[in-house]
Amino acid sequence: MNIVHCMDEWRARRGSLSGRVGFVPTMGALHEGHLSLIRASVDNNDVTVLSIYVNATQFNDPSDLAKYPSTLEADLAAANAAGVDWVLLPDYSQIYADGYRYQLNEESFSRQLCGTDRPGHFTGVLTVVMKLLNLVVPTRAYFGLKDYQQFELVKGMCEAFFLPIEIVGVETVRDQDGLALSSRNKLLSPEGRKLAKKLNKILSRNETDESVRDALEGEGFSVDYVQLRGDRRFAAVHAPGYTHPVRLIDNVQMESLK
Ligand code: PAF
Repeated sequence: MNIVHCMDEWRARRGSLSGRVGFVPTMGALHEGHLSLIRASVDNNDVTVLSIYVNATQFNDPSDLAKYPSTLEADLAAANAAGVDWVLLPDYSQIYADGYRYQLNEESFSRQLCGTDRPGHFTGVLTVVMKLLNLVVPTRAYFGLKDYQQFELVKGMCEAFFLPIEIVGVETVRDQDGLALSSRNKLLSPEGRKLAKKLNKILSRNETDESVRDALEGEGFSVDYVQLRGDRRFAAVHAPGYTHPVRLIDNVQMESLK
């Protein structure tokens, strides 16, 4: 596995790679969910590139950024074992040499769901994903469906800007009790973790958004939103953490609406 810090060096190396290139962008703290993206890429491409870059511009809350877990050594070992060929580890000055003067905005869906409570979040995500896609020039890029809104926005961006890249959505990986895997789960207190497992089950109930919200609040979650959109129900909630409440998101395809 090759590890590259310098993006000029990477761009020079990229020119010599041939075949289908699969790309998995991450912010590190890798878990089984990320590994399922990596495996999908390794199985379907000739070369797999992983990026680990904690993107400050998508954190609207600086304390959220400060708390973001960092496990680089374990991440590199897991990536190597899963068959990654190249790991990109850029820093802020390389990604944002423009000082974030150039930004990629989506004017509609990015303002809904998670965009309502996290102003600027999706602009940060879309801007960094565009930069990373232009650096990696992949055939396919892999995104987890836990972040379904992110997946749809990235797919829409590639269509809108005629990027010849296939955006692949990979099913959410869950713990045995149903909790969607997330790097943030590490921040849950034992009490928060016990509560968190109820999110997915309550979200799947064949009831109105209002009654799902009431049920979540009744259990002790603080709720940002519960919203049915098409045949999927989306939610963002907060559960107790060791130091601060931890924001969790999930979405389920409603069986009754399939
Ligand atoms: O899903 C993530 O981890 C991030 O939003 C991404 C796509 C790596 C962009 O920073």
